[in-house]
Amino acid sequence: MAQAVRFDRYGDVDVLNVVEVPDPVAGPGQVVVQVVTAGINPGEGKIRNGSLHERWPAKFPSGQGSDLAGRVVAVGEGVSAVAVGDEVLGFTNERASQATQVVVPVEQIAPKPAELSWDVAGSLFVAGTTAFAAVRSVSPEAGDTVVVSGAAGGVGSLAVQLLRARDVTVIGIAGAGNHEWLRSLGVLPVAYGEGLADRIRVAAPDGVDAFIDLYGPDYVELAIELGVQPDRIDTIADFAAVAKYGVKAEGNGAADTIDVLSELADLVVAGTLRVPVAAVYPLAEVRAAYTELERGHTHGKIVLHP
Ligand SMILES: NC(=O)c1ccc[n+]([C@@H]2O[C@H](COP(=O)([O-])OP(=O)(O)OC[C@H]3O[C@@H](n4cnc5c(N)ncnc54)[C@H](OP(=O)(O)O)[C@@H]3O)[C@@H](O)[C@H]2O)c1
Repeated sequence: MAQAVRFDRYGDVDVLNVVEVPDPVAGPGQVVVQVVTAGINPGEGKIRNGSLHERWPAKFPSGQGSDLAGRVVAVGEGVSAVAVGDEVLGFTNERASQATQVVVPVEQIAPKPAELSWDVAGSLFVAGTTAFAAVRSVSPEAGDTVVVSGAAGGVGSLAVQLLRARDVTVIGIAGAGNHEWLRSLGVLPVAYGEGLADRIRVAAPDGVDAFIDLYGPDYVELAIELGVQPDRIDTIADFAAVAKYGVKAEGNGAADTIDVLSELADLVVAGTLRVPVAAVYPLAEVRAAYTELERGHTHGKIVLHP
């Protein structure tokens, strides 16, 4: 038997359980991966607690998780691109990666570069592809000034580096504890809270060209107030502002391909992209992992070890 995270009603972290499930079987075009690492993401918590019910309802009993890395243990009919024993990273769209084994279409996995750590390989998909999409959506040009809210979180820590790689001046909104780390990347850190607009104006005397909101309430309005054009504002967390101001909402769904994931993995191996791993938990401690994530101040990624 395999083990997998399951919940059968909306609720707090205590609805999460690790249960025994039948070993998954690889159908045509699929592989079974023995999961070594599986990242966790705030969106999964919002699906679990029901707050995304209108947008992304859960079907019960529900599994959880998209990010994964592991070893191929079975291949289905017609699969020739990978073999049993291969080390891979990838994703599932079935809310299923937080398990000892998961079945995925072969086109959703790629070889894991040997130099890429398991923790990064298994937590790169959602945050990485989201950061990639958000950065692309605001069309950053060398010399631009771009503000990022939530700049040191799972998505933000990657978005600011992708922007710096394009010779953009990056202003990162973050708590004081993350300012030194942001400075080490060449990002200008500013603290959130009262007086933020003035702090940004001081940090960007020639104005702000684009704004990436990775946090939510009030940041899109702030971007408008700073004079940023709506087509150069992207939010992944404030969908009401999208309807109200006509700004962009490009996130994971705009770049959720294995090619983008592989490109990001290559950037990590090349040293262009650093993925901070804040904490790792065994699968059995999935509730504790989400409790830490849902405090809302994670620096980088939290990873499960099934
Ligand atoms: N639509 C999509 O495709 C998509 C995809 C992925 C994520 N998301 C959403 O995007 C958001 C970020 O995801 P994540 O994985 O990066 O989350 P995360 O790793 O939990 O990071 C949260 C960040 O929020 C920051 N923060 C806390 N209070 C803040 C405030 N008042 N102002 C600005 N920043 C503040 C924290 O910074 P400090 O530690 O510095 O306080 C922390 O870095 C979540 O809401 C998630 O659900 C959407």
